[in-house]
Amino acid sequence: MGATSPKAESSRKESLTASIGGSDRDGGVVEQAIANAQHCGVGDRVWFAEIDLADVSAPATSGVLFCNPPYGERLGQDSDLGAFYKLLGDVLKQRFKGWTAFVLSGNKELSQSIGLKSSQRIAVFNGSLPCQLLRYELY
Ligand SMILES: C[S@@+](CC[C@H](N)C(=O)[O-])C[C@H]1O[C@@H](n2cnc3c(N)ncnc32)[C@H](O)[C@@H]1O
Repeated sequence: MGATSPKAESSRKESLTASIGGSDRDGGVVEQAIANAQHCGVGDRVWFAEIDLADVSAPATSGVLFCNPPYGERLGQDSDLGAFYKLLGDVLKQRFKGWTAFVLSGNKELSQSIGLKSSQRIAVFNGSLPCQLLRYELY
């Protein structure tokens, strides 16, 4: 990626019309995300909210969603994770029609619990963990 001058960067930020935001149920994670955005100079352009997945709704009629859900590898196996992934699939299907979703998955079995057919699988690393970025077109 080429370097841009601070002036050009500022102008690009000002002309940004898309709403960019994120949510997590953990207030500490939300605070960290706000601090990171401020550190990167985009604190006034990105919103964050403390919301449980069960209460998430689409902020627009179309858009692109990225989700980095918990997966047992790092957080410890949790029998509720299967239910979490099923809920994720239901929320995407029912509330995000018209959106494209990307879900970072470090666990194939759990990602199958989403219950949606991915249109693309991209191999990535999350730190040292081999993962897949799953793409879903939501109609
Ligand atoms: C792998 S971490 C990702 C953290 C952060 N969002 C990121 O991308 O760096 C998984 C996150 O899922 C959140 N989480 C777990 N269960 C949730 C739920 N029911 N609703 C919303 N967030 C949840 C956890 O609080 C945790 O921060």
